[in-house]
Amino acid sequence: MGSILSVKNLAKIYKSGSNTLTVLQHIDFDIEEKSTVAIVGPSGSGKTTLLGLCAGLDRASSGDVILNNINLNNLNEDERAWIRNQHVGFIFQNFQLLSTLTALENVMVPLELRGASNIKEKAMELLEKVGLQDRASHYPSQLSGGEQQRISLARAFSNSPKILFADEPTGNLDTETGERVEKLLFDLNREAGTTLVLVTHDLELAARTQRVIRLKGGKLLDNAE
Ligand SMILES: Nc1ncnc2c1ncn2[C@@H]1O[C@H](COP(=O)(O)OP(=O)(O)O)[C@@H](O)[C@H]1O
Ligand SMILES: [Mg+2]
Repeated sequence: MGSILSVKNLAKIYKSGSNTLTVLQHIDFDIEEKSTVAIVGPSGSGKTTLLGLCAGLDRASSGDVILNNINLNNLNEDERAWIRNQHVGFIFQNFQLLSTLTALENVMVPLELRGASNIKEKAMELLEKVGLQDRASHYPSQLSGGEQQRISLARAFSNSPKILFADEPTGNLDTETGERVEKLLFDLNREAGTTLVLVTHDLELAARTQRVIRLKGGKLLDNAE
């Protein structure tokens, strides 16, 4: 099977005044379509930065990110937003639901941006999949952390993304709730046949993926499978 994501000699450097901070350098890897991959490494090693670059949320200082055969570095912000809407799902540690929208409306947003049809029905189906159809009209503040993350899973899968990025998806949840969200993530992923790239501190969670990529101090430690 082909590669869905190809990262080539990627670097991210932050400059402020005369200081430069190299957060990522010499990052090279390929991710096979429909595979599951964990990115692990100590806090501050650049995991969130790397995921943001791969998902087109942020721009590299040098090197290439090729997502579904499209080089993200050649695109402007609007074009990257379009690619994200078409191909990418993203799950954040702190959920990042829109607080002024209901659960249902949060799931509808990516579908609306894409101009899909039967948006409400599709969003309700997704809420059913995550077991929260009875909470459709509730706002994020009325939901527990685990429920908010289940809504964000529904939102992430709403456009049938080719690739799903999850940044410590269970990091803000207690163990039991985290395990439930984790199972749901892997179940939805298997059902949809999506490529899954997740960042985690949790080595048990990492062991559930087909491959582990290790980061330390902004560099890849190895690329062992
Ligand atoms: N916008 C930014 N400006 C400057 N430094 C940043 C910025 N974002 C992240 N960093 C730095 O990059 C390093 C890696 O951060 P991050 O990718 O969040 O690591 P991780 O997710 O592995 O904990 C850290 O030293 C962090 O302080
Ligand atoms: Mg992080």
